[in-house]
Amino acid sequence: MYRTHTCGELRITHAGQTVTLSGWVQRSRKMGGMTFIDIRDRYGVAQLVFNNETNTELCDQANKLGREFVIQVTGTVAERSNKNSNIPTGEVELLVENLQILNEAKTPPFTIEDNTDGGDDIRMKYRYLDLRRNNVRSNLILRHQITFETRRYLDQLGFIEVETPILIGSTPEGARDFVVPSRMNAGEFYALPQSPQLFKQLLMVSGFDRYFQIAKCFRDEDLRADRQPEFTQIDCEMSFIEQEDVLNTFEGMIKHLFKFIKNIDFNGLFPRMTWQDAMKYYGSDKPDIRFDMRFVELKKAVSNHNFVVFDSVPYVGGICATGCASYTRKQIDELTDFVKRPQIGAKGLVYIRCEADGTFKSSIDKYYTNEDLKQIAGMFDAQAGDLILILAGNKVKTQKALCELRLEMGARLGLRNKDVYAPLWVIDFPLFEWDEETQRYYATHHPFTSPNLDDLPLLDTDPGQVRATAYDMVINGVELGGGSIRIHDSALQNRMFELLGFTPEKAQAQFGFLMNAFQYGAPPHGGLAFGLDRLVSLFAGLDSIRDCIAFPKNNSGRDVMIDAPSKIDQSQLDELNLTIDIKEK
Ligand code: AMO
Repeated sequence: MYRTHTCGELRITHAGQTVTLSGWVQRSRKMGGMTFIDIRDRYGVAQLVFNNETNTELCDQANKLGREFVIQVTGTVAERSNKNSNIPTGEVELLVENLQILNEAKTPPFTIEDNTDGGDDIRMKYRYLDLRRNNVRSNLILRHQITFETRRYLDQLGFIEVETPILIGSTPEGARDFVVPSRMNAGEFYALPQSPQLFKQLLMVSGFDRYFQIAKCFRDEDLRADRQPEFTQIDCEMSFIEQEDVLNTFEGMIKHLFKFIKNIDFNGLFPRMTWQDAMKYYGSDKPDIRFDMRFVELKKAVSNHNFVVFDSVPYVGGICATGCASYTRKQIDELTDFVKRPQIGAKGLVYIRCEADGTFKSSIDKYYTNEDLKQIAGMFDAQAGDLILILAGNKVKTQKALCELRLEMGARLGLRNKDVYAPLWVIDFPLFEWDEETQRYYATHHPFTSPNLDDLPLLDTDPGQVRATAYDMVINGVELGGGSIRIHDSALQNRMFELLGFTPEKAQAQFGFLMNAFQYGAPPHGGLAFGLDRLVSLFAGLDSIRDCIAFPKNNSGRDVMIDAPSKIDQSQLDELNLTIDIKEK
């Protein structure tokens, strides 16, 4: 028997009992004739006491223990004279009578404490040690709780979890595929699924009616704080439903998780915003509505004042930062540099300070009178003490830049509190996106997304204006999940393919199995998928989804612990009938 209790379990009620603990040496300190050692396991930390006077040999043994040694101790639980109210076991300590080293350990490359001295790279290389730290472990435990509760919740609603294959065929839509060469089919490749999308639709044709899966997905795309090349979805699909049913069902699930994990109740329905409004007022399809600071369009109001910057561009828009009129020249220069960064791309920043005496100070007061500026300020409902920030340029690019500026000002004003949750459904996405470069439409979501049936006539006349029956759930500016009602009618599906530039042959070659299946009685269906990693990060208040993934990849898509990806042996290449010919970039 290795232990009678865990290291986090002992309380004052155990005083006087003889117990055995096993765990890792967290730290040790000598004080007078005593040696104190903290022993750690998953459940917590206990203090061990070795007394040099009563047992010199045992104390000597304890003094030789290094950090992270795995030990087993037996002793008597005693009330501490110096209690530590910061930890649950802080009222007691273990007077050790027997010590056994179960395994020695090399000195770890970084301290395994909440505030470690280990940088990102070293912690990732030794991720198994990093996972011993409380904060990383608690993220994984939270992930387990969310996954477990999601399964329980969906099971209660009659959803059935079905696994779908990982080795599938490549489809060109969406992100780039990861591909896997086939040994048995020389020169041919599987692709790893970007999502189980087509399979879950086939399961609807099979009559499963309510499907879900905690599914691994793979996308070869550029990585960011909220993107990993392999990530996990809570993937769901339902039959005989309309958009309203899907929104209600999964809003219910998210509300349930908030209650279960964080004991937070939301009153009433989550707000909904059309994609059009999201872009117009926030410059983003995932607005952070923890704070208002909506865009005001100014093009009409500011034109024809001989200010060529505003006259020569199609879009002028601004935001009003409450109470920021006191911003110094230096602070405004900082903001100007911020919006001019290449990844944001604005050309400059115009400001209007609303002074306490009712006058206005602005970088453009050469062109606009005090009365003009007052009128502009009125469009923002700006009050004395507020600062108006204005960008101008190409519409889409400028709205994006203004979105970044809004988020920056939100952060500076402390309006992006991680403990405040502002959920939102973004609805009515456009069905198509026009691509200038290839001069064709792409499906905003995927080619199986149903148009809003009210917009069907526009398919022939103005496809860019057609709304999709697609929706995203956004919380605090993060796209947590998204989905759509699917097309189940072959004629409409064929029309979609046509508009997307697929010949019937190409559509058949790529999606033939789905189109064939749809000829055998496809029910009306739709669904959505949540990003599990993003959901856990949101609940844990993390800045990166990596922190809730046991073994994540770094920003170059590498697993630095196992050193993957890596070269493979010539014999493996031979078996796969592959030769490597790396092109110079
Ligand atoms: P979508 O592509 O919007 O939809 O993905 C659904 C959700 O998955 C999460 N997500 C990611 N999380 C981490 N890293 C990534 N690289 C990554 N990419 C996406 C996001 C996103 O909202 N099949 C459709 C769903 C449907 O229509 O039912 C799909 O995959 O949280």
